[in-house]
Amino acid sequence: MKPIAVNISNKQMTKKLFIETFGCQMNFSDSEIVVSIMNDDGYEITDDVFLADVIFLNTCSVRDNAEQRVFKRLRELKSLRKNNLSLVIGVLGCMAERMKESLLDEPVSGIRIDLVAGPDAYRDLPEMIRDVESGQKAINVILSMEETYADLTPVRYSSNGVSAFITIMRGCENFCSYCVVPGARGKERSRDPDTIIPEAKQLYEQGFRETTLLGQNVNSYRWECPVAGRTITFPYLIEQIAGICPSMRIRFATSHPKDLSDELIEAIAAHSNICRSIHLPVQSGSNAVLKRMNRKYTAESYMERIAAIRKAIPQCAVTTDIIAGFCGETEEDHQQTLKLMKDVKFDFAYMFRYSERPGTPAEKSYPDDVPDDTKKRRLEEIIRLQQKLSHESNKLDIGRVFEVLVEGPSKRSSDNVMGRNSQNKVVVFKDEGYKPGTYVKVKINECTSATLIGEAV
Ligand code: 5AD
Ligand code: SF4
Repeated sequence: MKPIAVNISNKQMTKKLFIETFGCQMNFSDSEIVVSIMNDDGYEITDDVFLADVIFLNTCSVRDNAEQRVFKRLRELKSLRKNNLSLVIGVLGCMAERMKESLLDEPVSGIRIDLVAGPDAYRDLPEMIRDVESGQKAINVILSMEETYADLTPVRYSSNGVSAFITIMRGCENFCSYCVVPGARGKERSRDPDTIIPEAKQLYEQGFRETTLLGQNVNSYRWECPVAGRTITFPYLIEQIAGICPSMRIRFATSHPKDLSDELIEAIAAHSNICRSIHLPVQSGSNAVLKRMNRKYTAESYMERIAAIRKAIPQCAVTTDIIAGFCGETEEDHQQTLKLMKDVKFDFAYMFRYSERPGTPAEKSYPDDVPDDTKKRRLEEIIRLQQKLSHESNKLDIGRVFEVLVEGPSKRSSDNVMGRNSQNKVVVFKDEGYKPGTYVKVKINECTSATLIGEAV
């Protein structure tokens, strides 16, 4: 994902913060919390890294290449220190949590870093900056059992004014064997619905027309409500939000296939503003590989969930994540992944080469034994197949009419606007002065594997 740059500056102190985000939607949402905390301490946004008093990189550890991108960016920042001796450079997020004080070692990070803050330490950032200003290094990588930043209002600094994220839970306890997230983000905890629902309402009143509810596994959202004497679950929460904001689209990410319940499928089917799009990472089509990954479902039970989705919501798009070349993956395992992809006919997929991560159960238990060129070749086969499946899925949309939420001008041509349909597919059509945030009915005339092209009807 493209890093986003921001700036913050204080009126009295003219202090400015530049923050750049790497990795997933959750990290982008966290950066909005960080900006909120820094705003409260008198910092303001600016997008010029050369003017920054404080630079934060909010980082990702999920794959080695994500970390390498952060190291490259840190090396690029080195020259800024020469012009600004009091510049504070901080590393936040998963990489901070994973690497801890080792990041403060210049030979490790390639640059002098002043501050290292894990995902549960953001409230401490202003204090940590003061420590740095008084000549100390600052580190806080303590993970919390409770922190959800529930009382903070995220500053939507890089928003298009149409779509926003709401983090509804933090942490993960699924312990997929390849994954750093349980170690980097700690125990799973849900956020009080009495803070989530007003946040959604406020976004709606501010003119936002799409909100994505975020968690590592939203299906395990759970809040014990002493007043109502009941447990609030994700289907209940999403129905509440959908009911309060009828012309705002609701999306959610991510769902674990082992937990995708019939109740959630029914809730989606019952509300037209809950989007017809489910991201359901399968990772592999081989039961032996799924077992080593500790995914706790089989290819058959995954297919059963797909059948349940298709039965209740026939027009629902299904997207996924796939890892090529996990430990011990044979050619037959790989063929089973290709077969499952064809059986499901995914509309879109994020596809990755397995990257062994230090400290994960897989690193401890299984040799990373699929040769690099085999991983690469299998990934290419997966990508090629997915391109074909995406194109076939888009071709089926030709002649159909979709309600499209306009996001802004099309990148390719200023005559066109782009938006998304409920299935989250990008739709491009002629601009007739549509404002971002309007819904337009669009008939699809042609497509590529990535885009639907149509006309307003
Ligand atoms: N190697 C490759 N891909 C990974 N993912 C998570 N950990 C790894 C890893 N070690 C992928 C999974 C997950 C997505 C966010 O990143 O597919 O769903
Ligand atoms: Fe997001 Fe996972 Fe990367 Fe952390 S490791 S930033 S949770 S993708």
